[in-house]
Amino acid sequence: MTSATFRTAWYDALYGPEGFYRRERPAAHFRTSVHASPLFGQALARLAHRLDLHEVVDLGAGSGELGEVLRAEGLSVLDIELGDELPDALAGLVVANELLDNVPCEVVEWDDDGAPRQLLSDLSPGPVVEGNDREWLERWWPGEAGDRAEVGITRDEFWASVVSRLTPGSLAVAIDYGHLKSDRPGYGTVTGFRNGRECDPVPDGSCDITAHVALDSLGGSIVRQRDALRSLGVSATRPSLDLAQTEPLRYLSELSSAGEAAELLAPSGLGAFGWVWTATDADTVRRASRALSA
Ligand SMILES: C[S@@+](CC[C@H](N)C(=O)[O-])C[C@H]1O[C@@H](n2cnc3c(N)ncnc32)[C@H](O)[C@@H]1O
Repeated sequence: MTSATFRTAWYDALYGPEGFYRRERPAAHFRTSVHASPLFGQALARLAHRLDLHEVVDLGAGSGELGEVLRAEGLSVLDIELGDELPDALAGLVVANELLDNVPCEVVEWDDDGAPRQLLSDLSPGPVVEGNDREWLERWWPGEAGDRAEVGITRDEFWASVVSRLTPGSLAVAIDYGHLKSDRPGYGTVTGFRNGRECDPVPDGSCDITAHVALDSLGGSIVRQRDALRSLGVSATRPSLDLAQTEPLRYLSELSSAGEAAELLAPSGLGAFGWVWTATDADTVRRASRALSA
């Protein structure tokens, strides 16, 4: 079936009746910051507390591991998954960790004449891109013959619908790996993951399919995860060796935390993720900006 565009095939492969996310447990196939360490959720809890927010909405909650950490920090948590309707109003700290990279989007390739063409389910070239997708490409991801790109409009629309529901005093944060207009990858990023390994993004339900997010087109302030987490108190500093003598158990626990923090902060790994945040009122913008700047 080569007439479906790659986006349609991608959607069916992940979320259709036999789709990957209907059958598989995400943590068995990839590792997010949530799986890397509870320090991640604890830092988000500190962000909520600094903004006097008591509720968290975990969008794209997966198996709900983040919610467990947040509840242990005294927050009330609403897990939302695909198929749940978004409430009309979203209140509190609204987090979407590695959700947007799983929102299927059109993949395009510029032909020899410099026209962007939609790729079909087998990644062969289809019709020339027109309309909103074309405008999005011209504004956010211009290319030339031989380049490939992912049209981020489906991610932008999803995020805009989240942000439009925010109540005053609330904060929405999308956390994902991505790129900015100044550093778009020339050949796109769509890829597959199976059993923790990268694989070809074949849209047959056998693997997760993901593409990095055009963070700047979402609209919002952007801070690197490394900087956000550091400003929320995550540190990879190892405990002093003296502690090993006086309090060996505490030393081991702090050493293990430092290792987990290093993974969350790694400049070429999870630390390079972007946190794109939006609040709808000036006071929350000011407080969030203080809480999240390194
Ligand atoms: C990569 S997993 C991340 C899970 C979890 N947030 C974590 O960090 O471990 C992406 C999750 O987003 C969910 N998802 C994708 N599109 C969604 C949508 N439109 N609404 C709600 N959840 C969605 C998927 O079902 C999947 O559970």
